[in-house]
Amino acid sequence: MKVMKKMAKLLLLVFIAIQFFRPEKNINQGNHLASFINETNPPENVKTILTRSCYDCHSNNTEYPWYNNIAPVSWWLSFHVKDAKTHLNLSEWDNYSERQKDHKLEELIEVIEEAEMPLKEYTWVHQEARLSAEQREAILEWATLTKTLYGLGPLPR
Ligand code: HEC
Repeated sequence: MKVMKKMAKLLLLVFIAIQFFRPEKNINQGNHLASFINETNPPENVKTILTRSCYDCHSNNTEYPWYNNIAPVSWWLSFHVKDAKTHLNLSEWDNYSERQKDHKLEELIEVIEEAEMPLKEYTWVHQEARLSAEQREAILEWATLTKTLYGLGPLPR
């Protein structure tokens, strides 16, 4: 019993100690999505989908839930956002070449077709981010059309 109590105390101490290590937040109030929006011109319904289901991880601004203030959850979220942004950062659309843009859209089409995105871990807690078949169709239509901007034409489907 004594050992259990000691263990519990130790765990509590560790839990308190890790709270001092806060990852930097991914927050940017500016109009960082303007060039992506201007260039790819998503219709209103697609804009809503992107806002609700993608920007938290694939842009320079995350709307954090309250529990992001608790380590190790904060570390886990931070890791996901960083990882997501290395694959696709819509706030830095300007920094991609035409070929890269074309490729990003191709990947986007793939992950939507295969229902890989938004990540399941995310939709467990953000129910509103789940995509219906209709919403998937809307985003695919926009992405396929937009892809023609960048040279290689629409994917054979
Ligand atoms: C909870 C965070 C999160 C959300 C929300 C999210 N993604 Fe991702 N996304 C990731 C992570 C992490 C990766 C990189 C690892 C992987 O591919 O699973 C990724 C990778 C991708 C990739 C690159 C795939 C590849 O083959 O390299 C695309 C494209 C993508 N996401 C599109 C989207 C779109 C579109 C949405 C919204 C419908 C979305 N994501 C929502 C976290 C997220």
